[in-house]
Amino acid sequence: MVNIVQIGYGYWGANVARNIAASEKTNLCALVDTRKDRLQLAERNFRNLVEYQTDFTPYLNDPNVDAFALAIQTEPSFEIAEKIMNAGKHLFIEKPMASNVQNAVALNELSKQKHVVLHVDHIMLYHPIIRKIKQMYDSGELGDLIYFDISRMNLGPIRLDVNAMLDLAVHDLAVIDYISGGKEPYHVEAIGEKHYGNQETLTYLTLKYDGFLAHVKSSWISPIKERRTMIGGTKKMVIFDDMKTVDKLTIYDQGIVDASEEYGQYEFKARSGDITIPYIPQEDALRNSIEYFAYCVENNLQSISNGDHGVKVIRILDEAKRKLIIND
Ligand SMILES: NC(=O)c1ccc[n+]([C@@H]2O[C@H](COP(=O)([O-])OP(=O)(O)OC[C@H]3O[C@@H](n4cnc5c(N)ncnc54)[C@H](O)[C@@H]3O)[C@@H](O)[C@H]2O)c1
Repeated sequence: MVNIVQIGYGYWGANVARNIAASEKTNLCALVDTRKDRLQLAERNFRNLVEYQTDFTPYLNDPNVDAFALAIQTEPSFEIAEKIMNAGKHLFIEKPMASNVQNAVALNELSKQKHVVLHVDHIMLYHPIIRKIKQMYDSGELGDLIYFDISRMNLGPIRLDVNAMLDLAVHDLAVIDYISGGKEPYHVEAIGEKHYGNQETLTYLTLKYDGFLAHVKSSWISPIKERRTMIGGTKKMVIFDDMKTVDKLTIYDQGIVDASEEYGQYEFKARSGDITIPYIPQEDALRNSIEYFAYCVENNLQSISNGDHGVKVIRILDEAKRKLIIND
């Protein structure tokens, strides 16, 4: 059982706390938020099972606390994350890991220096459908990767400290890194539109990797919520629609085949095949992420969404931010 103090009980922090409290692998010792109204709300949910504080610092030296979960806005989270790891405590940090690559690198290095588990909550890596797609790619069932076409759109919330890309595409870049086995893009392009604040509320990101392409659309100004990942492989293609309650994954045994023997040079034809929807039991990706973090802490293991992985994702987003400025 890993004893966790959570900092931040906002919109997402409420989900994190609920899962930490409900899991048999973790114990929610305390909730910290600078807003008293949020703590009052938390108290209605957790009663006297946890402590409620506005200051996290006394817990840094508490030997009964193994780890912290940090679920506050990105900008102020850097300094707090440093304090937590400097105190030798393990850290579950919400995405994005940092607002720039310098801070991400600093956190990653600190985690290594202090020998603590740094787990970035790239929640999609712990989603059963992404796990299934990863297995399909690793076993050769998908073939070589050709493209990722990803759309993550909803109406709000408009964040003030990061843009839509840092808020949303961060999930998709983590997924591409995970499925492709750590490939990094050699070319990044991005365009965006600033409406309702200083940050881009809509961004289109295009990335060229060795052998495949990715297009990632992130929006806070869409009338509909969409969470769709289409992946084209040379053998099969898949669509993961996370807005569906069931049947989220569709596998297309379809593609393009070389028909040059039949037609002569440079002739290709479409190959149609079965369309299948595999049964994949539902799992809560956030619960998986938290329990996997606890497993890493208890067994002294590196998380798959560790600092190295987090830095790679933020490095791409930093490059994309530069392109947003150039293309503005
Ligand atoms: N993994 C995911 O899928 C996912 C989904 C949504 C949000 N998030 C991330 O979760 C984080 C929080 O997002 P949110 O929507 O809950 O934000 P929010 O603004 O709703 O909540 C943030 C909370 O942190 C508190 N806080 C801020 N600074 C603090 C400090 N120094 N000490 C204590 N409390 C402090 C605020 O009072 C607030 O209650 C963000 O990093 C966001 O990107 C992750």
